Amino acid sequence: EGLEMYKIAVLPGDGIGPEISAQAVRVLEAVARRFNRDFYFTSGLVGGAAYDETGSPLPEKTLALCRDSDAILFGAVGGPRWDHLPVNLRPEVGGILALRKELGLYANLRPVRVFPALAGASTLKPEVVSGVDLVIVRELTGGLYFGKKYREPLPDGGTRVVDTLEYTTSEIERIARVAFNLARQRRGKLTSVDKANVLESSRYWREVVTGVSRDYPDVSLEHMYVDNCAMQLVKNPKQFDVMVMENMFGDILSDQSSVLSGSLGMLASASLGGNTGLYEPIHGSAPDITGTRQANPIASILSGAMLLRFSLQLSEEADCIEKAVAETLNQGYRTADIAQPGMPLVNTTQMADQIIAQI
Ligand code: NAI
Ligand code: MG
Repeated sequence: EGLEMYKIAVLPGDGIGPEISAQAVRVLEAVARRFNRDFYFTSGLVGGAAYDETGSPLPEKTLALCRDSDAILFGAVGGPRWDHLPVNLRPEVGGILALRKELGLYANLRPVRVFPALAGASTLKPEVVSGVDLVIVRELTGGLYFGKKYREPLPDGGTRVVDTLEYTTSEIERIARVAFNLARQRRGKLTSVDKANVLESSRYWREVVTGVSRDYPDVSLEHMYVDNCAMQLVKNPKQFDVMVMENMFGDILSDQSSVLSGSLGMLASASLGGNTGLYEPIHGSAPDITGTRQANPIASILSGAMLLRFSLQLSEEADCIEKAVAETLNQGYRTADIAQPGMPLVNTTQMADQIIAQI
């Protein structure tokens, strides 16, 4: 009797990407031992690391590896070293954005949960953040990040710069359905975030989401302007269940939401929609702490749990990782970003060691 072999592509990227994704792989290996599973990891170059070696931030070989895998574990890309490159060769645009687009990963799920042990680690009051459990559904392959962008010279010697925010009916409908389905499985509330008082694309977004809501009478839908939403997220975050929004709005509000969880280093994500799923922390390559062993690997480790749950349908194994993280935090272990007085400070590898010990 043969074990089913799961092929996982690992794209570490740049900066702290390799440091944290290595820990997520160790955790997945521990889960494989505990549950007698067969995970086959293959790494690929992406981002600045790929540009330096091949001249492309997303080599064909990496794309082929992703297409041939059951799931992708992604680290992070970007950094000041590549800032001088034309926009399409930048690790962020030519690397991760292009990869999401190529693989059709239009639905980005970003759960924001506050581990009970970390309610006191946030800069916000514990009574505001404790019990928060929301999911940001970020549209990932359209909107402002994928519209036409260019510069053109003006007769007065200046420059005109253009970014465009575009959506089609079907792009809005499909992300709305992902969000409604998720809300249906959770507490039945969906907040659609837009700027419909100013943007034409947002006015239409609101119309389409309202239309889709007719298929989900069991989900209560509310619309909220993005500026008010930014305020509500820190004032009373427990009001939210599932939130759905345009690409850049989701990028910004999810970094903001990470403060509820204690740190950007805590938030995982799943990018779905195509034939394979991609799993990555919501944070970037953190050049300011690269090489210092301070990076919190939990966002990447929890991304590994999402990978097991969504792409491999191994929910018991995913639960095991999430419980191991919660227990490690209960025991007091903290990386620098979530440090609390009197609690043992650990580095990137040591945090993973504790989580593996729990598994
Ligand atoms: P960042 O998310 O890399 O870092 C913001 C702040 O959070 C920094 O102070 C960093 O040290 C801290 N931080 C992030 N992850 C952490 C972790 N795991 N543990 C502890 N602290 C952590 O955002 P920043 O500095 O604006 O961007 C750095 C580079 O990353 C840029 O080139 C940016 O374009 C790129 N980026 C890439 C993303 C991706 O690969 N998906 C996403 C966001 C940014
Ligand atoms: Mg971001």
